[in-house]
Amino acid sequence: MFIDSHAHLTFPELKIDLPEVINRAKAANLSAIINIALDDNALATSLKMAEEFPGYIFNAYGLHPHDASGWEDEIAQRVRALAKEKKIIAVGETGLDYHYRLSPIERQKEIFRKFLQLAQELNLPAVIHSREATKDTLAIIHEENQGKLQGVLHCFNGDMELAKQALDTGLHISFTGNITFPKAHSIRQAAKEIPLERIMIETDCPFLAPQSFRGKRNEPAYVAEVAKQIAEIKGLTVEEVAEETTKNTRQLFKI
Ligand code: NI
Repeated sequence: MFIDSHAHLTFPELKIDLPEVINRAKAANLSAIINIALDDNALATSLKMAEEFPGYIFNAYGLHPHDASGWEDEIAQRVRALAKEKKIIAVGETGLDYHYRLSPIERQKEIFRKFLQLAQELNLPAVIHSREATKDTLAIIHEENQGKLQGVLHCFNGDMELAKQALDTGLHISFTGNITFPKAHSIRQAAKEIPLERIMIETDCPFLAPQSFRGKRNEPAYVAEVAKQIAEIKGLTVEEVAEETTKNTRQLFKI
């Protein structure tokens, strides 16, 4: 059984036929989906989805670095309330994205720090996004880690410096469908080096469909493609990768 450890089920592309999306995920042997809600509307829909598919859809809530300028202190209060009611299993995604710079860098850093503090206060794992921001991501992780930071570096891009230090800090590394892209040599090389007990798999759907579905809408069922690629790289069976990544995900998110 697989788990898609990072999906955005509330995006319109997936929301329109969610029951079919979930049926196909079940048919593809997924035992759970971690849904990432990134705003108020997405959160409301996500909470309903989790009620509709109990024990199958689990939610994380945060503010994408793109939207860091939209931070309000209310968000922290909402995260605390959701954690208390056990309606979220992680904080995020949060982090730094210097590729698009849709929010000013200083603001992204400030909000990333807030989320890492919140995660530790609430004893929840953090889902971390880092794009073209390795140095600052690592600096903030080191500065904010009070020794109890848990989490995952999601949508790993192949930067081994980032991976090594993240692993040293105790974080997990999660691979998406981009590991299957022909040019993704550095991502595949990283998957070879990173120990399986620290690896999780995800789709980040509706984005980043794996090579065999490239250009199409991505969905949780395709997470098997990521497992297949990792199995090939590590000389393991898909079942071994499925079992271990599922165990890692269940342990980290306590589900
Ligand atoms: Ni995402």
